[in-house]
Amino acid sequence: MSASKLKAPRGTFDVLGEQAAARTALETRARTILEGAGYERIETPVFEATELFARGVGASTDIVRKEMFTFEDAGGRSLTLRPEGTAPVCRAYVEHGMHKRRQPVKLWYLSSFFRHERAQAGRYRQFWQVGAEALGSEDPALDAESIALVARLLSEMGVREVRLRLSSLGSLATRSDYRERLKEHLRTHAQSLSEEVRARIELNPLRAFDSDHPGTREVMRSAPRLLDQLAPADAEHFAEVRALLDIATVAYEVDPTLVRGLDYYTRTVFEFTSDALGAQSGVGGGGRYDGLVEELGGPPTPGVGWAAGIERILLAGGPPTAATPPVELFVAVESSEASLRATAFGLLSEARSAGLSAQMDLGGRTLKGQLGHASALGARFIAIVGEGHTVLKDTEAGEQEPIATDAVVHAVLRGHHAL
Ligand code: HAM
Repeated sequence: MSASKLKAPRGTFDVLGEQAAARTALETRARTILEGAGYERIETPVFEATELFARGVGASTDIVRKEMFTFEDAGGRSLTLRPEGTAPVCRAYVEHGMHKRRQPVKLWYLSSFFRHERAQAGRYRQFWQVGAEALGSEDPALDAESIALVARLLSEMGVREVRLRLSSLGSLATRSDYRERLKEHLRTHAQSLSEEVRARIELNPLRAFDSDHPGTREVMRSAPRLLDQLAPADAEHFAEVRALLDIATVAYEVDPTLVRGLDYYTRTVFEFTSDALGAQSGVGGGGRYDGLVEELGGPPTPGVGWAAGIERILLAGGPPTAATPPVELFVAVESSEASLRATAFGLLSEARSAGLSAQMDLGGRTLKGQLGHASALGARFIAIVGEGHTVLKDTEAGEQEPIATDAVVHAVLRGHHAL
């Protein structure tokens, strides 16, 4: 009797070799763009104290209410697999006293995150994000820079049919006044609202803007708009962000109904969608969170950032631009004789130490099979190690010559001029 086959948990996936090339290309692009703009890489732990997300992301959000993978460790502490990266980065900023560094501190990450969501195409329970956070400055240029960097990454990855929606939520005080006004409006029209929205009037009235329910949508058409009620300093900040985006020729639509699924936002919020994605169209999003560091016990520190989903970028993107690196030297052996294989192995390690990408057969193939494998890999040079002689083939020039084994690496390094 054979044991039953085990599968990866629902909503998770294996990244196989054939997808790895595209993911590596994306990581390389992200690193070039972000490090070029002064962001340093940060990686935080996969799990954190549950309290970080409860306080940081907000107790009323879907993420905290129903999507976290939370568990107790052996010491009875409540831990949670990170559902997002902003709260952990702010925690690290405070923990490492980064407010003492030159501000803004700019950090980027490419990591996996965990949300217990209904799994479907483009929505997973473990997914990857590339994200960036800039802490310690409220300059609207930092908001515009963040948005322009996402736009550039998406465009370089060939993401199709991209739209950018932009809004401002104002300060925490404006937002809380506005919430009261919005609650009042929702209470007045409670009988027309969907049950879900009605149940959440007190907890999260802003989510009503997200509803597909026809009655709710009708009520929301006449709802007060936060964007019309911004304090002068916030309105000016938003106008500057827009002006800078115009200068950077980043196209956007101002959408006063834009709601993000996290509570920490103040002032600028934005979301990139791709119509090529279907239902899960959000490809990246972010905004400013001027109160978050303080909420997590740090000094008052403004911040702005974003994250974009790796899987969604790849789903909506063009074909991968960088293939796996070419094999420069394939070392084949004439027979499976142990001393020949040892010589070949020595040659392989010498080639790798010299910086060449080199491979040899490790699957016990015949010489014919090895040459087939080398050609499938697109190897530029093939060294065939035989009893008392080695032959070096230049597959591009279509030439081959006998050569001393210890001269192979040198010849390959010099390219086909050596032959
Ligand atoms: P978010 O909008 O929750 O923002 O997630 C950002 C992106 O992650 C989404 O646009 C989407 O592409 C991807 N994503 C989210 N959930 C899933 C999922 N279940 N499966 C696949 N992809 C997913 C944040 O996480 C904020 N921390 C962004 C931020 C950084 N705001 C300021 N700084």
